Amino acid sequence: MNKRFYVTTPIYYVNDIPHIGHAYTTIAADILARYHRLIGYDVFFLTGTDEHGQKVEKAAAEKGRPPKLHADLLVENFKAIWGRLNITNDAFIRTTDVNHVKTVQGILQMLWDKGEIEKRSYAGWYCTPDERFWTEKDLVSGNCPDCGRPVEQIREENYFFLMSKFHDRLIAYIEGNPTYILPETRRNEVLGFLNNNVLGDLCISRPKQRLAWGISLPFDDAFVTYVWFDALVNYFSATRYLAPDAAMAGKGDFWWPAQHHIVGKDILTTHAVYWSTMLMALNFPLPGNIFAHGWWTIEGRKMSKSLGNVVDPHAMADKYGVDAFRYFLFREVPFGLDGDFSEQALVNRINTDLANDLGNLLSRFITMTEKYFSGSIEKTVPYGRLDSDFARQCIAGFTAAHRRDVWSRLQFHIILDHIWEMVRAANNHIAQTEPWKLAKSEPARLTEVMFDLWNTLRLVALSLYPFIPQTAEKIWTQLGLRTLIEETGQSRAGNGEFPQIFDIEWTPGYAIKTSRGEQLFPRIEKEKKMTREADTGTEAQGEKKEETNLISIQDFAKTELRIGKVVSAERVKKSDKLLCLQVDTGSMRQIVAGIGKTYAPEDLIGRKIVVVTNLQPAKLMGVESQGMLLAATGADGIPVILMPEKDVEEGAKIK
Ligand code: ME8
Repeated sequence: MNKRFYVTTPIYYVNDIPHIGHAYTTIAADILARYHRLIGYDVFFLTGTDEHGQKVEKAAAEKGRPPKLHADLLVENFKAIWGRLNITNDAFIRTTDVNHVKTVQGILQMLWDKGEIEKRSYAGWYCTPDERFWTEKDLVSGNCPDCGRPVEQIREENYFFLMSKFHDRLIAYIEGNPTYILPETRRNEVLGFLNNNVLGDLCISRPKQRLAWGISLPFDDAFVTYVWFDALVNYFSATRYLAPDAAMAGKGDFWWPAQHHIVGKDILTTHAVYWSTMLMALNFPLPGNIFAHGWWTIEGRKMSKSLGNVVDPHAMADKYGVDAFRYFLFREVPFGLDGDFSEQALVNRINTDLANDLGNLLSRFITMTEKYFSGSIEKTVPYGRLDSDFARQCIAGFTAAHRRDVWSRLQFHIILDHIWEMVRAANNHIAQTEPWKLAKSEPARLTEVMFDLWNTLRLVALSLYPFIPQTAEKIWTQLGLRTLIEETGQSRAGNGEFPQIFDIEWTPGYAIKTSRGEQLFPRIEKEKKMTREADTGTEAQGEKKEETNLISIQDFAKTELRIGKVVSAERVKKSDKLLCLQVDTGSMRQIVAGIGKTYAPEDLIGRKIVVVTNLQPAKLMGVESQGMLLAATGADGIPVILMPEKDVEEGAKIK
């Protein structure tokens, strides 16, 4: 049986529109999942959505729809972005899944039966948006210490998980398992917190009269469970019904515990303290590691809807490509530290690392093989046995990029550094050996040099695969290798060791045919990259436009038009003209349009329309519109909606 590897992301609040922060955590988990599949592990990679609680209940009520329907619509945003970013999650858990609900209730019942839960009367300060209680001394100037918003005093009966009992055991566990919480700075923070505070018990219920949208306590139907208690259990419940061969999990705990829970630093306490103690109380094994990564700010500022600087991963992928975006996130900032995102920094990385170092290396190599050997590569001396500095550097880079401790500590930036050692060594090797001279003077030596370059590119592609899978496969194909990298992992022995692949089986005299493909990363020129500056526009430009009434192609290119599918439609209250549509344009958005006199809401459902997707949101009769649909004005002044002539997939760009 293969070794197993189970990795999770947080389950994201279904209400949120996925942004760079969600993408960051999920891509990190994808890198680990892809790597472990490559080295022959059986992998279970889980992500999903957190769908209960006050926030969802409230947002659904504002939209006038039942919470489950609200979640059903919004969950598609997450599924769409994971598809777009080539995320290979094996399962997607929703906390509204019937099986999850049953598992949570089973666990609550177990803890209740064991006496780990107690009913008490409780008075505290409650922060509604954060859904949690605070004590008087926690408050900062009378407000919630977390979000700064006002709190209200609430007295009620509630159920408590007796978390305080596990205080010492938790400290001992973290101290005894140095990689349980990573990075180390975060581990020290948690230990500092535990050593300097008295751990209280955790209120795990909410009376239904205050919050109905949750999982009922199996032993008291007047209450639902606290949303975090429900959410954390997802990691376990998925192994019971979503994991590959879930039946096996039921029999022998095949998948539990997870090797890594990857989370942002914002939710480390809930994982390190609540989840760990819940597992202790249940007598379940603890996960191998909780990794808390850092926080992205945007050009030095906190990301927020009100600042309008939320980075949409769809937009980044459209503009720069999925792989460039994936690469940037893990190259720019050591995983674990905070980082600042700017398009300028992304463009710099593309132009230097990806276009210049990597892309040029491949294209120079292919050009030379075509020129000197009509595209064929032959093997001469086995790679790795060559007594050359180049071979040694590459093998050292490759070995270092696959060191187990570096991978188990999620030090992605170190791994990428080592891969770039190989890339740089190969570029230097070309500069030093000057193959164009060898072609005339030493043809045998040229064959060796070209083979070494080929083999180095092969190892680079393999190593890059978890990070930038599409690019790695493109390199692989151009090198003339037929089986995709993705498929090579599945045929490995499965012992979790990276195979000895410095050398490859090669019948003497055999030649492999390379094939030139598209350029990996075209350089991004200045005009193309500075959309932000162009977006803001200058007054001088505005005047010029008025003079001629013509716009440049660059101006036009600023408008993002996409095909959208109308998922639901309703009239805006007190307006006979406005309709409010939920439209899938690759991600869900709400569009308010003045078409209510000519179109009935039910006629629009399922129809494909054209949407301007990069307009600043605006409110119409108090309802937010995140874009605009295109309609012509008919002869009698009535709007006629533009629809594609043939079926086109939602999200398709109009150019
Ligand atoms: O907390 N930088 O869900 P959530 C980096 N449902 N990462 C960021 C980020 C940023 N600026 N913003 C968000 C929840 N993230 C709970 C989790 S788990 C049992 C329940 C990422 O939608 C980061 O991973 O608020 C963070 O932990 C997560 O999104 C929070 O997602």
